[in-house]
Amino acid sequence: MEQQFIMRGGRPLHGEVTIGGAKNAALGIIAGALLTDEEVIIENLPDVRDVNVMLEALREIGARVSRTDRHTVSILASEVSGVSVDDEFIRRIRASYYFIGALLGKYQRANVPLPGGCAIGSRPIDQHIKGFRALGSEVQIRNGCVAAEAEEGLRGAHIYLDVVSVGATINIMLAAVLAEGRTIIENVAKEPHIVDVANFLNSMGANIRGAGTDTIRIRGVRRLHGTSYAVIPDQIEAGTFMCAAAASRGDVLIKNVIPKHLESISAKLLEMGNTIIEYDEAVRVIGSVMQRPTDVKTLPYPGFPTDMQPQITVTLALARGSSVVTESIFENRFRYVDELARMGSRIKVDGNVAVVEGVKRLSGASVNALDLRAGAALVIAGLCAEGVTTVNEIGYIQRGYEHFEEKLRGLGAEIELADSERDAQRFRLRAL
Ligand code: UD1
Repeated sequence: MEQQFIMRGGRPLHGEVTIGGAKNAALGIIAGALLTDEEVIIENLPDVRDVNVMLEALREIGARVSRTDRHTVSILASEVSGVSVDDEFIRRIRASYYFIGALLGKYQRANVPLPGGCAIGSRPIDQHIKGFRALGSEVQIRNGCVAAEAEEGLRGAHIYLDVVSVGATINIMLAAVLAEGRTIIENVAKEPHIVDVANFLNSMGANIRGAGTDTIRIRGVRRLHGTSYAVIPDQIEAGTFMCAAAASRGDVLIKNVIPKHLESISAKLLEMGNTIIEYDEAVRVIGSVMQRPTDVKTLPYPGFPTDMQPQITVTLALARGSSVVTESIFENRFRYVDELARMGSRIKVDGNVAVVEGVKRLSGASVNALDLRAGAALVIAGLCAEGVTTVNEIGYIQRGYEHFEEKLRGLGAEIELADSERDAQRFRLRAL
């Protein structure tokens, strides 16, 4: 049996929760560790499935990877023996594409499967490939893999991205830091994790400027050295707990965050009538009993993150009145609405727009996670619903949330992780 979360809803969340390191920054940073032969120590690394798959892939190509504690890892890539990363696990994650940029940058060759990840849209990587080609690499797609080779080494180039892409921005940075000469990448993504990966590379001796703006300038250097670097807090994990606090009408202090990264989320929760108190490294969310509807449109940073769209939709589903949620990044990101409907929500989807009619209460049901953020949103729904909710296929959720259920239990939620049919039955009976 796939693991399940079983929960009984109805309890407002109360207390404090500490946010871990940013998964999406960590994934780029782990690949970046390949760019030096010296030791790289990464701290505040989240212990989640996608991160562990990336670390395992590094090991498979000959890097020495050792955990000094649960959130710190040491990587020594001086004895990497292959440029081909491929196994059934790496095929399932999206960030495998960062191995193309990193291997190409360091060894001028890479062979990596076309990325998997959550089925939230078509998710092409044409902009990554365009960047690698501009830097002087040949790129071919062969047998489901991206084969890249720059026989004469990579040379700096002027690259304009046709779409604002987080993955392409980081990937091209990874390839360009050791390229000869100057690279300018225009129309880049500005997400906090782009800045974090750039800071990490700079701490290894790279020369990257402009991360966090529309244009990134890189002066190639001959070699990079080792570093010790702490990953920034996870914007999306923090946002998820903010929505959980608001939707459950709770009062939660969310610690170890960068409040600036949460502004678009705070803004929406405030518009709904919730109270948000910002501290230097924490935010407190006090959920209002009567929440107002509002409209949300996902956009690249500093806009509202697409990775928060399902969680805010669930929060709006319990507000009083109708809201419009527009998804402008991925075309297929409302599939979870059918699952939510089983819990009594009233949401109509037309293309990339969802009209959310707030309901007074949701009722427990058995639902499927479908993807990482949708899974988290269904857990929030379950915690607010009357009765027992089972969220199936939680492997998706574990890709990006470390001990989600433990953290929620720490806030007073009644939620259990069931490993077996027996567990599941026991938990369900106890919850009834
Ligand atoms: C990353 C995140 C993901 C987040 C997304 C948007 C990781 C591992 N994943 O995904 O959690 O939801 O950013 O913040 O960091 N596009 C192209 N061609 C390309 C690349 C992208 O057309 O070559 C399009 C995509 O289809 C999408 C948009 O650009 O519509 C944004 O995608 P992108 O920012 O690249 O997302 P990912 O890197 O896949």
